[in-house]
Amino acid sequence: MSYVIAVSGKGGTGKTTLAALIIRTLLDSGRKPVLAVDADPNACLGLALNNETSETIGQLREDVLEDPGQIPAGMGKAEYLDYRLRECTVEGSGFDLITMGRSEGPRCYCYINSLLRHFLDRLDEKYRYVVIDNEAGMEHLSRRTTRDVDLLLVVSDATVMGLRSAARIHTLADSLDVNIRRWGLVINRHDGELSAPQQAEIQRAGLDVWGQVPQDEAVLAHALAGASVLDLPADSPAVVAVRGVLQRIWQPAMA
Ligand SMILES: Nc1ncnc2c1ncn2[C@@H]1O[C@H](COP(=O)(O)OP(=O)(O)OP(=O)(O)O)[C@@H](O)[C@H]1O
Ligand SMILES: [Mg+2]
Repeated sequence: MSYVIAVSGKGGTGKTTLAALIIRTLLDSGRKPVLAVDADPNACLGLALNNETSETIGQLREDVLEDPGQIPAGMGKAEYLDYRLRECTVEGSGFDLITMGRSEGPRCYCYINSLLRHFLDRLDEKYRYVVIDNEAGMEHLSRRTTRDVDLLLVVSDATVMGLRSAARIHTLADSLDVNIRRWGLVINRHDGELSAPQQAEIQRAGLDVWGQVPQDEAVLAHALAGASVLDLPADSPAVVAVRGVLQRIWQPAMA
């Protein structure tokens, strides 16, 4: 059974960067194979991992609904979907990537979604870790096609307003029918002490701070050059900080 880590937070806070850094840390420490799931319709995780695909699950779902005639004679719908889904999985070094693509339209997707859930559940089993980069907001969690989440990390900047948004995500997700085993808050682009108002906001959010990731010029330089997070130096401050965040999963005393 794989360990599922999902990354959430409001727009532009660093979800994709954190998800890619988590994958990087898992690979560096030999915790593979990893399945990277880009669940943001505006897909970017592939770019951060230098492993892009044009095949998305959303497109596949539309194709099958729009033109069931394309299913080869003698092949069942489930079998065909299975075959196309395998084509949607891009292989990287130590990890695979699937891209969910855009979300559903107004049609009935129940049957296709149940086939997808079945496929993704089986896919999960092949991997030691599954890391999901989510779109901003929480809607995605209410229509998840995969199983429960072992750890949901909410990313926020250090502003009081940003932290309040993180609190809202926490409250909203708690009211949804999703089983999230552990929660953590990661404060991105901030180093050093937290002020009293910041701490008060964090307490209100009911979230435990799993770590702070400092502003890292190498991360920005890589993003500007379209380079992968996987190529950042091992001693880059953001890489070191995320390694620290993940230590919490592996320390039995804190589990
Ligand atoms: N710790 C950091 N140091 C420097 N730059 C960072 C850091 N974290 C993120 N960035 C930069 O900030 C920008 C936004 O980050 P990212 O794309 O990861 O955010 P996001 O939450 O996934 O955004 P979206 O909501 O659009 O999906 C990127 O250019 C990224 O390189
Ligand atoms: Mg993103």
